Amino acid sequence: MDIFRTKTGKMNESVKLFMEEVLQGLKSSPKTLSSKYFYDDEGSRIFQQIMDMPEYYLPEAEFEIIQTQSEAIARRINQTRLDIIELGAGDGRKMVHLVQVMSQFSADLSYFPLDISEGILKVNEELFRKTVPSVHFESLAGDYFKTLPALKDRTNPRLIVFAGSNIGNFRKGKAVEFLKFIKGELKPGDFFALGVDLKKDPKKILSAYNDPTGLTKRFNLNLLTRINRELKADFDLKSFEHYATYHPITGAAESFLFSLRDQAVTIGDEVIQFQRDEVIQMEISQKYDLPLLQELSSAAGLSLDSVYSDSQGLFSWVLMV
Ligand SMILES: C[S@@+](CC[C@H](N)C(=O)[O-])C[C@H]1O[C@@H](n2cnc3c(N)ncnc32)[C@H](O)[C@@H]1O
Repeated sequence: MDIFRTKTGKMNESVKLFMEEVLQGLKSSPKTLSSKYFYDDEGSRIFQQIMDMPEYYLPEAEFEIIQTQSEAIARRINQTRLDIIELGAGDGRKMVHLVQVMSQFSADLSYFPLDISEGILKVNEELFRKTVPSVHFESLAGDYFKTLPALKDRTNPRLIVFAGSNIGNFRKGKAVEFLKFIKGELKPGDFFALGVDLKKDPKKILSAYNDPTGLTKRFNLNLLTRINRELKADFDLKSFEHYATYHPITGAAESFLFSLRDQAVTIGDEVIQFQRDEVIQMEISQKYDLPLLQELSSAAGLSLDSVYSDSQGLFSWVLMV
């Protein structure tokens, strides 16, 4: 079967792009795989379990901000008509509270979750239809670089949300590029809310990415399983191990897989060689402080408007204009 064609014989562009990016990454030095491909249905399920791990403090800290400060955020935004557009929305379990509170301030409120994973958007929709049925709900599946511009014709003021410290998955240059993309989407009166994980006790950060139950390892290895299935590859999962680091000065938490032996992996028509101990860079989760945020946002032409943090100072929501 031709993996690049659908059952009806049409070119499957997303599989083609996936193949191109995987091969390009694995032919680079060091080898790398893009973390945006972590989230097939199984990857999204594992990530939901990661969010429930005691070591993974991020969702709880962010949820505390949403629980205690949604009203202050709503008062700052102060719009009777509002579109909340969430990029990389996931299951929406944290956002539902913000949307509930905002609906008391905005009579005409719509929520648009955008995500590359259709499966997780179904979970998101079920939650929102059950808990806030009065709010207009419309999900858009696909890459947010494409789906956000597709909402351009709407005239309501917008709050664009990028939560979960997802910006941490970009290295510095890409983070500025992303913020420039957001800046290009904001009209006067719109706000951008960025949820960011802060630099802190390095041991606390490391244990969030190096959990004793091995869920983070499963999450990383699942991308190899996905490549095996979707790109007809033959990664031997038992021959790769997971390794996580945190650098307290740069603020970068990084995940790697490394090869336990010399081996050759076939992906489509290509063969990729791995030496024993050779690593694949899998994911960066950059941690921030205010000066770094200020530097990146001003490089993108955005200004910090207000900052909301949890009681332990682990995480912040930053409104930008
Ligand atoms: C780490 S999860 C966070 C989910 C949610 N925002 C939260 O804070 O719990 C990242 C989500 O972003 C989605 N995602 C990653 N890259 C994306 C892209 N380029 N376009 C759209 N969605 C993307 C993934 O499918 C996943 O559901």
